[in-house]
Amino acid sequence: MPINVHQNGTLFHLTNQKISYLIQVLSDGSLGNLYFGKKVTDREDFQHLIENEYRPNTSYVNKGEVDFSREHLRQEYPVYGTTDYRHPALSVLQENGSRITSLKLADYRIYPGKQSLDGLPATYTEVAEEATTIEFILWDDLIQLEVVLSYTLFEEAAAVSRSVRVKNKSTQKLHLEQVMSLCLDLSDCEYEMLQLSGAWGRERFPEFRKLVSGIQSVESARGASSHYQNPFLALKRLDCTEQAGEVLGFSLVYSGNFLAQVEVDTYDVSRVTMGINPFQFDWLLTAGETFQAPEVVMVYSDAGLNGMSQTYHKLYRERLARGEWRDKERPVLINNWEATGMDFTEDKLLAFAKTAAEDGVELFVLDDGWFGGRRHERAGLGDWVANLELLPNGITGLAKKINELGLMFGLWFEPEMVNEDSELFRKHPEWIIRVPDRSVSHGRHQYVLDFGRPEVVDFIYQMVAKILREAEIHYVKWDMNRCITEPYSATLPAERQGEVFHRYMLGVYDIYERLTSEFPQILFEFCASGGGRFDPGMLYYSPQGWTSDDTDAVERMKIQYGTSMVYPLSSMGAHVSAVPNEQTFREVSIETRGNVALFGSFGYELDLNKLSKEERTSVREQIAFAKEYRRVIQEGTFYRLLSPFEGNYCAWMIVSRDKETVIIGYYKILNEVNAPFKRLYLKGLEAEKVYQRVDNEQLYYGDELMNIGLVTSDTSCGQVIDGRATSYDFDSRIIVLKGK
Ligand code: DGJ
Repeated sequence: MPINVHQNGTLFHLTNQKISYLIQVLSDGSLGNLYFGKKVTDREDFQHLIENEYRPNTSYVNKGEVDFSREHLRQEYPVYGTTDYRHPALSVLQENGSRITSLKLADYRIYPGKQSLDGLPATYTEVAEEATTIEFILWDDLIQLEVVLSYTLFEEAAAVSRSVRVKNKSTQKLHLEQVMSLCLDLSDCEYEMLQLSGAWGRERFPEFRKLVSGIQSVESARGASSHYQNPFLALKRLDCTEQAGEVLGFSLVYSGNFLAQVEVDTYDVSRVTMGINPFQFDWLLTAGETFQAPEVVMVYSDAGLNGMSQTYHKLYRERLARGEWRDKERPVLINNWEATGMDFTEDKLLAFAKTAAEDGVELFVLDDGWFGGRRHERAGLGDWVANLELLPNGITGLAKKINELGLMFGLWFEPEMVNEDSELFRKHPEWIIRVPDRSVSHGRHQYVLDFGRPEVVDFIYQMVAKILREAEIHYVKWDMNRCITEPYSATLPAERQGEVFHRYMLGVYDIYERLTSEFPQILFEFCASGGGRFDPGMLYYSPQGWTSDDTDAVERMKIQYGTSMVYPLSSMGAHVSAVPNEQTFREVSIETRGNVALFGSFGYELDLNKLSKEERTSVREQIAFAKEYRRVIQEGTFYRLLSPFEGNYCAWMIVSRDKETVIIGYYKILNEVNAPFKRLYLKGLEAEKVYQRVDNEQLYYGDELMNIGLVTSDTSCGQVIDGRATSYDFDSRIIVLKGK
């Protein structure tokens, strides 16, 4: 039984082969946290873990007694104002103006499997035996408020997913000002916090900082999870590395405004909270209404950051992503955006696609510019009908011609947006997010449609679905190119304006759910100006996303390295683009561009007709490689070996599930002179298995490769003798090993 209940239902031990999570009912009936981490032996009593000393300048709960203060206790779902002065998990404004609540355990229930979350993305089980869920029903008797804390322990994974549901069972109106999805009070602060931060073009760069007393946090208030901070944080022990040591990961399954925070108190307790950003949030809960907060997935690893990432990769690949494409080999695609922008005709596209088909590409994607009056950024968004001047046969005709070339056909949409110069805006100017009578800001000359309004979502759904019904479309790229400003919804009453951001996300999830249900055969790829909404919420609807608009191979090493902290390779759209790169103007060989992009959902973003004969040969080899090894790349265990943030080299590897195939990506950024010899210490191999290098047939034992290392020195470890360069800036190699 993975959830052991002791002491008449007052001690709960959630445990599998890897982890333990201990929750204790405290003397006032609220829930306390005793432990989350590596598995410990089950026992009847863990009371001794509750540390509670008399301390000066402290407030106490019980009259006449000085033995119970929340300030000193680690709690499971704390509230403010009843002796705990830290930031709470929940804040509820009541009709009398009070924000004081008191949550006591009223009941609990345990069941096999996991229930879905109403209107929200979440991890799931396919058979009930995969996981066990416990729900704690907390109750505030004075205001008749029910708070259900839900914990799912996965049988095979060192992971617990948590979510919170709040129900107003009173007759008064309650305002939820803060409903965090998770709170975890840790008993010390000897951690470094890892966050994935960045900006457009350099998304999800890992940053580390030692915890200090007070608050440290990352957040988004942009209406999307954002390029700037990812809805994730990890706390790693100071000696934890990529390969060894303890780390706790926290990942929010949500795509809108979020807060991920650690508050270290004066007694070194570290309180982790994560959920919808309380900033600008205020949800009115009238009598009988329920609010569902999104899910957080917590992971424990004692095998370093790689161990944490591997747990997320498997869980997110297999039990967050859904649909027909979840387990299918992803097609090698070509996208016209970086090659043509909006400057194309049907003939040009067909010529582009024909060459791609000849080289082995499987899917052609028509990006922005095919609809309404969209000949530039200032017009057309919102009018999802083909521009017949450009595409005389419409999308249906073009798709047919593309299919006849032997390619699948994919199409770009940006459903959440509208340009002022569009039929949709002329008809429904009131459908955008803005404050009436105030000026409205734009981003890329576009406005955000109010997806909190069902009629707006429905209208867009019908327009998009019509095209998907009529044409033979196999893939949709769903873009979102600006953040929300002037958050206000014309149809919500004043007291509900704090709901705009979350309602918007619910609308986005709703249309995604409807489209993916009606068109299960379509591979959806999420995108937001590159990787501006690359989060677990999106992964639930689309098994892959566009990782970044920065396609320079050297930059991409960093972006893919950072993204892999949480997200599986199968989720990272990674394409070879033209040189000089349009962002960095860097010239990188076609081989290295391919060698980086092959560690993702592989494709091209250039016009193959413009390549030399030799480059075309490389492209064909890359495509053949992608097809041969994509199952291993999608499903294998990924290890980061050398960080491009720490030196001149980057390396990573994948080991197939059966450990028979190993794929290593090895990259040198700048060339060196008379450099030291180099070795790469491989991971995750079978020690006594014999592995053979595919390129030169050299044989090794697995333990040799892991302990002595694979020699990766190149000719830069010496002097050039005959005047011929044989190693370069931006050099790279993919090495494949196969079990004998
Ligand atoms: C931003 C995306 O990231 C690009 O790949 C491309 O689709 C453009 N939008 C099109 O406007």
